[in-house]
Amino acid sequence: MIIAQISDLHVHVEGNYAYGVVNTIPMIRQAVEHLNQLDPRPDVVVATGDLTHHGERAEYEMLRHLLAPLEIPLYLLPGNHDRQQPLYHAFGKPAYMPAEGSYLQYAVDDYPVRLIMLDTVVAGEAGGELDESRLAWLREQLAIAPTTPTFLFLHHPPFKTNIPTMDCIGLAGSKDLAEIVLQYPAIKRVAAGHLHRPIYTQWAGTIASTAPSLVHQVLLDMRPDTPGQFVMEPPAYQLHLWDDEAQELVSHTVYVGDYPGPYLFVH
Ligand SMILES: [Fe+2]
Ligand SMILES: [Fe+2]
Repeated sequence: MIIAQISDLHVHVEGNYAYGVVNTIPMIRQAVEHLNQLDPRPDVVVATGDLTHHGERAEYEMLRHLLAPLEIPLYLLPGNHDRQQPLYHAFGKPAYMPAEGSYLQYAVDDYPVRLIMLDTVVAGEAGGELDESRLAWLREQLAIAPTTPTFLFLHHPPFKTNIPTMDCIGLAGSKDLAEIVLQYPAIKRVAAGHLHRPIYTQWAGTIASTAPSLVHQVLLDMRPDTPGQFVMEPPAYQLHLWDDEAQELVSHTVYVGDYPGPYLFVH
């Protein structure tokens, strides 16, 4: 099974660039084309939040329009830049999304790896949270299929990245999440977005990671007391390959864009 994890699309309306600088529209178009051309093609695409830049209805209409050519099943998850109602409005609340409840949390059981999506959004805040009601839902979900290989997706990473400007808008409730995850060796990965960089760490008995952004990247700045900055390093996404026979998960970072090559390894 191949899972493409795209993240932090920050889609805006025509002309209203993200932070006045990043024209995300052609970058998302290029990424969709890139995903469609992958061979073998991923089984699913998971978008781990910050789908739009301001959470406005017109931005979600643009997002839907940009993602329409994607020929792979797509699962959406919100980030701190998103708002639920405009998202539902533009996408007509896809069947996989929960019929009721305040949070956009759901499980996907159609593949060898079970996908569990957690909503970490706190309205109006840049940081995220997993409060007791969201964690209770997770406990229920894990109890349904405790030994099935499982992938947890969420927007805010539950670990310290050592980029202070991002760690100060991290995830509240991460210790409670760790206690739950530790009980389930079947959780093969906890995969987040938000950081606009690929980062990995050993966490709660599994591996936790973040994905690069399809648009701008967060500057690698480990100094305290510096302002948050972004940089136009290459857009990228994660490709998670699950070998069901070996029960092994391997992840690649895939760069979108035009680069010289490929060249054969011959003289
Ligand atoms: Fe973001
Ligand atoms: Fe974010």
